[in-house]
Parts: sequence; C-alpha cells; structure tokens
Amino acid sequence: MLPAGWRRRYRGLLEREAPLAPRTTWRIGGPADLYLEPASVDELAATLGALRAVGMPYRLLGGGSNLLVADSGVRGAVVSLERLASLHRMGDAIVAEAGARLASVVRFAVEGGLAGAEKLAGIPGRVGGAVFGNAGGRHGDIGSLVARLTLLAPDGRLERFAPPKGFFAYRQSQVGDRVVVDASLRLAPDGAAAVRERTRRIVEERRRTQPGWVGNAGCVFKNPPGDSAGRLIDAAGCKGMGVGRVHVSTLHANFFENGGGGSCDDVLRLIERVQGRVRAVHAVDLEVEVRQWL
Ligand code: EPU
Repeated sequence: MLPAGWRRRYRGLLEREAPLAPRTTWRIGGPADLYLEPASVDELAATLGALRAVGMPYRLLGGGSNLLVADSGVRGAVVSLERLASLHRMGDAIVAEAGARLASVVRFAVEGGLAGAEKLAGIPGRVGGAVFGNAGGRHGDIGSLVARLTLLAPDGRLERFAPPKGFFAYRQSQVGDRVVVDASLRLAPDGAAAVRERTRRIVEERRRTQPGWVGNAGCVFKNPPGDSAGRLIDAAGCKGMGVGRVHVSTLHANFFENGGGGSCDDVLRLIERVQGRVRAVHAVDLEVEVRQWL
C-alpha cells in the first residue's frame, strides 16, 4: 500500500495492471503491477520516495525503444518520465527534460539554427534513456553534447554537475542508480537551412539502412570493438532467421522485427540462435545491448 499522504497530493497518472507492450517499440511484454507518470520533478521525487518507503521495487521507463519486457510483465512499479518533457534554450544550449523525445530535441535545434543535435536525428527514444545508455550512432553520441546534467539521487537530492571525462563510454554512462531529470546539450549557432539539410540527410541515411521505429528495438547487440554486430550477423547468414513471430531484419541484421504477436520468449530464443551462429562462424561473442526487464 502506498502512503495515503503521497496519494492525496499525487496529480499524475496512476494505473494498475498496466500493459507495457504498447509502451515499448517492440510491442512485447506483459503488464506492470503499477504504472505511474508523475507530473513534475517534485512529484517524481515524492513518488520514488513513497515507493522506497513501502519497499515497492520500481523501474524507470523512457521511450521504451531499447527495452525487452518479460511476457509475464514486471512486479512492482514502472515510473515513466513522459510528462517531464520540456525543452528550452539557454544561450546556445538546449535544456531538455528526461521525457522529451530526441526527435523533439532535434526539431527544436533545427528551428533555432543550432548545430550538433543532428547526430541524434532518426534515433527513437527520449532524453533520459538516451543519456543513461549514451545513445548514438556513426555521427556521434549524446554524451558528446552533454554540458550539464541534473540527476535525482536515491536519497531524494538533486545533483547538478558537468559530467567529468569518462562519464560516458560506448553505450553506457555513470548515471547508475540515479534518475536523469534533465540534460543541457551544448550546441553551436549555424544557419537554420544548413542544420535542416544535414538533419534531413542523416534521417534519410537511416531510413535507407534501418527499419522504422515500430516493431523493433534498434540494435539488439553492442558492436564488438572495431566491427559491426549487424555485419557479423549478416555474414553469418542470419538475415531473415526467425523464432515464432520474431525475425532478423533483412534490411539491417542487428534489428529483430516483431511481425505481430511476437513474444519476449521468441526474442530470447532468437538472441541465442544468432549468438550461436556468430560464435560458430566468426568466433565472436555478441553482447546484448537492449535493456531487459525479465
Ligand atoms: N552491415 C551489413 N549488414 C547488415 C548491417 C550492416 O553488412 O545487415 C554493414 C554495413 O554495410 C556497414 C557496416 O556493417 O558497412 C556498419 O553498418 P551501420 O553503418 O549500419 O552501423 P552499425 O555499426 O551496424 C551503428 C549503431 C546503430 C546506429 C548506426 C548508424 C550500434 C550497436 N549500432 O550500427 O545504433 O544507428 O551505427 O549510425 O552501435 C542502436 O544503438 O540501437 C543502433 C541501431
């Protein structure tokens, strides 16, 4: 039972037995016992405090674009940051709350004639998850743009700081058990037309080489040093390989597509099959990149 005092003050969304599949781009996974969307940073802090006070485990949900949820769902609470999605400009920086979509950040930068955010163009997901996992691609990652971060620590304190060297690495950060509240992204003034054109080219390149946002979770595996997991999977002959309703994309082999009605179990078995083939053909162990709530 959550504290009555907290419940009386809570203004955000609260749902019990909330389906998580529609909240992930893979469209896979069972329900959460409790699903919460706090409506402000104070409410987020109070909510996490209340969950801790009653000993209810919780997980943070960003855009659900890099996430595999168990078919049986998750016990405890899922807290989404989607209502904390403001964007504002401070000089040549954009301060983005954790729930803002990367696509909104990119659009805001284009409209403001600010260069740098185009490296995030075409990446699904939201700022919090992107910072936590240092999302990016061939044009660079979000960590290279972050000038300042606001994190909510487990004891309820807000920490504001410039991330030191080494805070971000390939697809990881030192955020740890803290919650990303907002990030200030360091950009540079440029002509709006030039930024728009570079953004357009990057989005077009992604559309050509990767499936769209729905029905997959982006790259399933991390790239091994100096190589591409997609290239290795493709060269091992796995394109089109399937388990149940989930198959390896024929466009980019590091994407697994849910053909409709696919399950977490299908994905896990396909992961094993692909890892086995890549190990046999290339003697490389592929490490899973998507987060798993199993
Ligand atoms: N390739 C193949 N077959 C495939 C896929 C790729 O031969 O099925 C070859 C390509 O032709 C290219 C090379 O592999 O020569 C690299 O491919 P790509 O440029 O698509 O890059 P990637 O290393 O496979 C990385 C990121 C992507 C990001 C792209 C583009 C990882 C695990 N992947 O992929 O990120 O979108 O660069 O910037 O770091 C993600 O993190 O979810 C993700 C999709």
